[in-house]
Amino acid sequence: MLSFGIIIFAVNKAIDYYSFITIEKQMMEKADLSELSFREVLAQHRSSTGEPQTKEIVRLALEKLKASGKEVRIYDSSKKLLGLAVDGIIIHDGKPLIFEKNIEKALSGSYAYTVTENHLLYFATPIQDQYYQNAYVYEFVEDISYFYAIMDQIRYILFAGAGGFIVLITLSSLWIARNTTKPIKLLLGAAQSFSRQEFRRVHLNRKDELGMLADGLDSMGRQLHDYIQYQKQFVSNVSHELKTPLAAIRGFSQYLVEGENENKELQKIYAHLLQESDRLTRLINELLLLSRFDKAGSNELEVERTEMNGLIQQVATNMGAKAKDKGIKIMFREAEAEPEDKLLTRVHADVNPMLMSHAIANLVDNAIKYSGSPSLIELKLEHTPSEVVIRIRDQGIGIAGDELERVQERFYRAKNASTANGSGLGLSICKEIVERFNGYIDLESQVGEGTTVTIVLPRA
Ligand SMILES: Nc1ncnc2c1ncn2[C@@H]1O[C@H](COP(=O)(O)OP(=O)(O)O)[C@@H](O)[C@H]1O
Ligand SMILES: [Mg+2]
Repeated sequence: MLSFGIIIFAVNKAIDYYSFITIEKQMMEKADLSELSFREVLAQHRSSTGEPQTKEIVRLALEKLKASGKEVRIYDSSKKLLGLAVDGIIIHDGKPLIFEKNIEKALSGSYAYTVTENHLLYFATPIQDQYYQNAYVYEFVEDISYFYAIMDQIRYILFAGAGGFIVLITLSSLWIARNTTKPIKLLLGAAQSFSRQEFRRVHLNRKDELGMLADGLDSMGRQLHDYIQYQKQFVSNVSHELKTPLAAIRGFSQYLVEGENENKELQKIYAHLLQESDRLTRLINELLLLSRFDKAGSNELEVERTEMNGLIQQVATNMGAKAKDKGIKIMFREAEAEPEDKLLTRVHADVNPMLMSHAIANLVDNAIKYSGSPSLIELKLEHTPSEVVIRIRDQGIGIAGDELERVQERFYRAKNASTANGSGLGLSICKEIVERFNGYIDLESQVGEGTTVTIVLPRA
């Protein structure tokens, strides 16, 4: 728009400039003709009388030139007005408007002109005598309003054309924008959902580069989807296959531990064997749980309205013994009663109680694993009208700020986690479970001070 405005401005100026040059040329031609007639009068008069008589010359010249302009004037070399004619009639006692500068300039040998506000052009030109002296100035006044009218018309056409052009440009750029941004938005949306591992078909009904890009994205999405499915299936199959031999190994180790009473060295080895096969069994169980999640839609899970105070109390009791062994105390603070509720507040959420217990137990297990003794683990249930909030706070080793996000990924264990055994799957399983029930998990931690894991669920 700006550059277009500049162009219009320049064109407008150019029209002004060049049309004035045309007018100037026209006037010069006219002045030349008039000068010729004037000099004819001068020559004739000289040949008839010998000595020039100014009054007579002016009269004759005016007589001859009176119709050559709206007004015609003759000045002498001292800028004195000698005679004038208005509308073809010679006037003897007029006191017209005189542009002295123009007359001066004409007397110095070149023509000069002025245009007044009411579009009158005053054009002065010198007339030389037989000695080539600028003896007279001939001036005519021309009404050039017709010229301004034409200019205005040209300008009008120019602006109307420009307006039309701008409308056209605007409409076409809107059309182009709509046609290109819409598919780009679609592609962007597809790429974003791919990054969340949500694969969907991408198709654009066009043959250009964007259409090709859509096809490329589509086939990439399908291959990624297949690959991830294959990988999950593989993990699931392997876990299944490992389950039976592992059970056998565990059973035999148990048998060996119990049977060996004499050799302390062997006893230690058998105990280690049992411990490791327990760890492997847990890992396999976690992997199987995850693959169950990967396969099942949320509608396959049984969800029931569950009272959370009771559920958390149960978990706290179950984990109590393990904590006590390590010199850790678990404290559970139930939800505070609402004013109208004299007894214990009942806080409900729509969850699968078995899975939810598993998730909370997992978090308490982490709290025990990553805490020293003596220390305290605090379990707290809070609620708002729309949410159930479960907090598990420990005084353990904590998680570094830059690892808070990553520990929620599968198999990721923080750098300071080597103090305890683990697979790095627990948190990601908790996350999946909570998200299945439309909730989310939040982690806050300070290295060396402790960690608080918060589960937020919609209240039922
Ligand atoms: N309460 C906690 N205190 C300190 N670190 C924790 C705690 N909970 C989880 N983490 C860190 O997050 C990582 C992932 O946890 P998780 O998925 O349960 O795996 P793991 O099998 O190692 O317990 C752990 O390895 C540990 O580094
Ligand atoms: Mg864990």
